[in-house]
Amino acid sequence: MLAIRLSRPVSQLPGKTLSVCDRANGTRQSLLFSSASFIRMSRRTYAGEVDPVGSKAVLVTGCDSGFGFSLAKHLHSKGFLVFAGCLMKDKGHDGVKELDSLKSDRLRTIQLNVCSSEEVEKAVEIVHSSLKDPEKGMWGLVNNAGISTFGEVEFTSMETYKQVAEVNLWGTVRMTKSFLPLIRRAKGRVVNISSMLGRMANPARSPYCITKFGVEAFSDCLRYEMHPLGVKVSIVEPGNFIAATSLYSPESIKAIAKKMWDELPEVVRRDYGKKYFDERIAKMETYCKSGSTDTSPVIDAVTHALTAATPYTRYHPMDYYWWLRMQIMTHLPGAVSDRLYIY
Ligand SMILES: NC(=O)c1ccc[n+]([C@@H]2O[C@H](COP(=O)([O-])OP(=O)(O)OC[C@H]3O[C@@H](n4cnc5c(N)ncnc54)[C@H](OP(=O)(O)O)[C@@H]3O)[C@@H](O)[C@H]2O)c1
Repeated sequence: MLAIRLSRPVSQLPGKTLSVCDRANGTRQSLLFSSASFIRMSRRTYAGEVDPVGSKAVLVTGCDSGFGFSLAKHLHSKGFLVFAGCLMKDKGHDGVKELDSLKSDRLRTIQLNVCSSEEVEKAVEIVHSSLKDPEKGMWGLVNNAGISTFGEVEFTSMETYKQVAEVNLWGTVRMTKSFLPLIRRAKGRVVNISSMLGRMANPARSPYCITKFGVEAFSDCLRYEMHPLGVKVSIVEPGNFIAATSLYSPESIKAIAKKMWDELPEVVRRDYGKKYFDERIAKMETYCKSGSTDTSPVIDAVTHALTAATPYTRYHPMDYYWWLRMQIMTHLPGAVSDRLYIY
């Protein structure tokens, strides 16, 4: 039987093609797409007027590296008063040093572990005491801090599930609840960085997917509740930008894999075997090498969510392969999308 699967991210494809794989005989064919706009999904230009930034204050979490680091600099360059929450400020992280080296009174790094209620409350105090008129509130909160891991359900410990959720999901909830009084006063914005994996699941990504699906549900509930109060809530769902951020590195994948194998229950180790395990790790390494190196689509999306008069509910900064896959996975029956992409 001929089973066709739309395959592999754009970075691995030559030119304007989609590759399809005939799983029955292992051959590949290419589909040509003539529409340039369809191909160029990654750098979207947003229409619409933006509010003047003035000295609006925003807080971004996870600014030591990756999207958060770039966002802090970009929002500062747009004229925002930026509070850059950094996990490793106390430990002198290079990213924090670089942000501090700008020596701007509109960019302030603060020690902020989103898992720590004390540090979050301290951050609220710092922002409150730094605002000219705290009764006018803080304009924007960008919940960006996150961690990731991988591994089949049977390879993943309960400890790992909880660790990832503590940062990605409960950290987002904790930060949002703590800053909402200030955001409500400004009738401002909450921007939550989810992921394409918050809309569609993937094998071997359950510890990450469940947290991002949670962020999506939380954001939707919050958006409904905040609408009458004038606060706008947006979700940004980046595709694969791993090559551009510190979410994974070859070293971290090796370290995660070693710990996982060492801690596997004997029955799981025996049933799956080391060969299968190593193949899965190799697949993850390949995925990580395929990511986009240009974070500007994500930065543009967050900036639009913070500045546009009518920000979007969801932003999809990702290449066309992942965009198309997400549409199919979220709109077609599971029997079809599973057959196309998973089996
Ligand atoms: N990169 C992608 O392909 C991709 C795709 C979709 C979604 N995302 C999401 O984008 C967001 C940013 O990730 P990124 O890709 O930019 O990776 P990143 O470079 O690793 O950035 C994540 C940041 O969060 C910080 N962080 C980790 N735990 C924290 C905690 N408990 N409290 C506060 N900060 C913490 C990290 O600090 P340290 O560096 O000091 O550890 C790091 O600065 C995450 O929510 C991620 O899930 C990324």
